[in-house]
Amino acid sequence: MAKAPRLPLVLIPTTAGTGSEVTPISIITTGASEKMGVVSPVILPNVAILDPELTLSVPPHVTAATGIDAMVHAIEAYASASANNNPISRALAEKALRLMGKALLIAVHEGDNLPARSDMLLGSMLAGQAFANSPVAAVHALAYPIGGHFKIPHGLSNTLVLPHVLRFNSITHPAPYAELAPFVFPETQAIGTQEAAAAFAEGMADLSERCGLEQRLRDVGIPQDAIDLLAKDAMNQTRLLINNPRPVTEDDARAIYQAAW
Ligand SMILES: [Fe+2]
Repeated sequence: MAKAPRLPLVLIPTTAGTGSEVTPISIITTGASEKMGVVSPVILPNVAILDPELTLSVPPHVTAATGIDAMVHAIEAYASASANNNPISRALAEKALRLMGKALLIAVHEGDNLPARSDMLLGSMLAGQAFANSPVAAVHALAYPIGGHFKIPHGLSNTLVLPHVLRFNSITHPAPYAELAPFVFPETQAIGTQEAAAAFAEGMADLSERCGLEQRLRDVGIPQDAIDLLAKDAMNQTRLLINNPRPVTEDDARAIYQAAW
């Protein structure tokens, strides 16, 4: 817990991803491999300045990974089981997904497209505000051990587990994902709840693939025999797992990593 007083703080993001310019959360790697959060209002800035021109030179792979991370913030905030989930957070998440769902592929493939970069930066900030109150869950919990042990960038770690966690959650809790689906994939507007939730998981996997991101744990050099270690470490992310709509056991985590491998 950060408690001490501080000097005035101005934050200027240079990627459209973490939203940390508007969250009270900072993530650090502790020891060799564990990622833990510092959560304190002290690290909220006095002012955040969003200038999309600063993101024009972000390479496509980083644009894609950070962009998917920002979308995951909105997705997990919207579906969060936290008692802090509220209509304002969900409205922020909805707007964030509408903006980023349209802009991500353009920002990745036409890096100098200022309107797309602007929408991504605005979307990532709104998603940050959403999850600052309605916190993220199992996608992040399962992503952190991937980043901690194998030094995979945070957004890519999220990408690798995202569709598998969405499918897992949708079995028991399809409603929030069915509500989210048309914000990103308008063609899912008129289909049933279970079907729309499934289409959302497939659509997000397809989107990350079209962004050029690796799709499987094996694609980034993670050996299959690391799955037990990853599942065990994911269970330490109690701060996040408690927010997942569906409870995740160590066996569940192992099955999700196996599906992602
Ligand atoms: Fe994240």
